Amino acid sequence: MDFEKNILCIGAGYVGGPTMVMIASKCPRYRVVVVDINQEKIRDWNSDNLPIYEPGLDDLVKKTRDKNLFFSTDIEKGIKEADIIFVSVNTPTKTFGQGAGKAADLQYWERTARQILANADSSKIIVEKSTLPVRTAKAMERILNGSPKEISLEVVSNPEFLAEGTAINDLENPDRVLIGSRETPEGMRARKEIVEIYAHWVTRDRIIESNVWSAELSKLTANAFLAQRISSINSISALCEKTEADIDEVAYAVGTDSRIGPYFLKASVGFGGSCFKKDILNLVYICQNYGLEEVADYWESVVKINEWQERRFINNMLSNMFDTVAGKRVALFGFAFKANTGDTRESPAIYIARGLVEEYAQVVISDPRALENARKDLKDLKERVTFEMDPYKAAEGTHSIAILTEWELYKDLDYERIHESMVRPAFIFDGRNILDHKRLFEMGFNVFAIGKAPLKHF
Ligand code: NAD
Ligand code: UDX
Repeated sequence: MDFEKNILCIGAGYVGGPTMVMIASKCPRYRVVVVDINQEKIRDWNSDNLPIYEPGLDDLVKKTRDKNLFFSTDIEKGIKEADIIFVSVNTPTKTFGQGAGKAADLQYWERTARQILANADSSKIIVEKSTLPVRTAKAMERILNGSPKEISLEVVSNPEFLAEGTAINDLENPDRVLIGSRETPEGMRARKEIVEIYAHWVTRDRIIESNVWSAELSKLTANAFLAQRISSINSISALCEKTEADIDEVAYAVGTDSRIGPYFLKASVGFGGSCFKKDILNLVYICQNYGLEEVADYWESVVKINEWQERRFINNMLSNMFDTVAGKRVALFGFAFKANTGDTRESPAIYIARGLVEEYAQVVISDPRALENARKDLKDLKERVTFEMDPYKAAEGTHSIAILTEWELYKDLDYERIHESMVRPAFIFDGRNILDHKRLFEMGFNVFAIGKAPLKHF
């Protein structure tokens, strides 16, 4: 079969994988190749055991793989054959040198740009899919224009807004797709080509076009706004605990104002995930570089409140369990940073587990999807941490349970049976406010939720 277009994606991770699966499924006349330096990951993408868990992903992969979707480690061949190259490599926080702890580490991204330059022998559109600091396209252009070859490599920004756990639905029915380019004739032509891809399934009014810098900055800003709402509600949760106001009632009352809206107002143990903290710190770093100290401080406080909320959760456990958890078994229900994913990057559970171990607790971790990652995250704590898929077994002989991920399954457990198997007095710390607190209290549990008055028997 002759394909209309050859699309390549460099980076087969949480974004590159699902995004290309969706493009392949919606555009059967395009040939889509996804490449990665990680051979194991590519092997998994080509197997029945995909490297990431995402509801609905397996079915779409089965429908498209080896028809118009291919996973490969041959990056050079992929570059040569492609008309359009999406770059979806990781852009983590820099851990060394200038900007360490805040700036984006662009080494993977730059390596990719140089590899494209070295191997491209025809004109191509290069799409920034990774989240990048504003004005990165300028640096990318500088590298790509360093070619003595008579080819054009036009850079377009098309940041991704999917959230993990709902990636397939987010990709299929996006609130918007954002495509930014240079406003030159070549830039506008490249923009049109990327619009055409999405127009296969996204209505035109949901495809936003902008200049390239706006597209880059909108992505960082959207994540900062989302995280800011969580830190706002979490800060108020602390005040609720002091005043007997109930955070869920407050969030509902506030969110019904149509100017505010109901989303992202769920108080929690803190936000996790690979994006929010990294992207806000990157925004902070960029503002500092432009001398905008007040703006930088404003956004940095979103991250600080989040760290404080996590710390507060541990302190609350400690003070209510008679100021010591030393030698006590504590079960953590949930280790993923949110439900419906196995991803544990920046999960509050990592911080909570480590904090409890520092207090000499014996921690038992349960999660339906994230135990493999949890083992890696805590591999240095083998002595004090165990892993148990079955929540009933995990709870046996524990003094307390902490709910750290809002998995549906935790709502429907037989808590009478769990209470029977625990040491008394038994404690539940609901870091996601998903349980029926009054019922648990009546069963005999001492219940501590986020932003609610404690329910205790002593
Ligand atoms: P990831 O770590 O899951 O995947 C990145 C992949 O790139 C890895 O498999 C890595 O091996 C590969 N890679 C790195 N350098 C490479 C190279 N030179 N050649 C080929 N492959 C290379 O990361 P992710 O979560 O998919 O995020 C990718 C980007 O998308 C980041 O910039 C992130 O901020 C952004 N983003 C992530 C999400 C999300 O929910 N995870 C959502 C929107 C945007
Ligand atoms: C986020 C953005 O939502 C997405 O648009 C972007 O592309 C990538 O970053 P993700 O990190 O996958 O997506 O998940 P998200 O649903 O945003 O949740 C992030 C964290 O915030 C999770 O730990 C979640 O539990 C927490 N959260 C979310 C809350 O604590 N309260 C809320 O009301 C919403």
